[in-house]
Amino acid sequence: MKKLLLLCLIMTSTNVMSQDAKRGQNLYKACIQCHGENGQGLKEKNAPMIAGQYDWYIESSILAFKKGEDRKNPEMLPYIRNLTGQDIKDLAAYVSKMPVKQ
Ligand code: HEC
Repeated sequence: MKKLLLLCLIMTSTNVMSQDAKRGQNLYKACIQCHGENGQGLKEKNAPMIAGQYDWYIESSILAFKKGEDRKNPEMLPYIRNLTGQDIKDLAAYVSKMPVKQ
């Protein structure tokens, strides 16, 4: 029984911090200046809270900004221009799991 509990713990902890999210955490360093350390957003930068947002929404927003047709974000563009599809997925994995703090 104890072994089963331990196994469950290991499984949940790897789930919370998948390899992708770890890569995302590293990539997120470039976003902190506008979205804040906790993804809480910064009013003075006009940057909204993104912590805890759905991963698919984060991904689709960044892709839309990159394209610059439906959504434009000239401030953020230099920071996302060179991200690969995998980078964006990893960032979304990390940001979506950030605890929401105001
Ligand atoms: C120079 C400032 C700046 C940097 C750096 C920046 N952003 Fe942003 N971001 C913004 C602004 C401003 C908006 C709001 C734009 C809008 O919606 O019109 C935004 C919006 C977003 C949104 C959409 C939120 C929503 O609810 O629609 C996401 C997701 C996002 N940023 C993720 C990131 C990620 C991930 C990074 C790092 C790779 C990053 N941003 C770096 C300024 C920045």
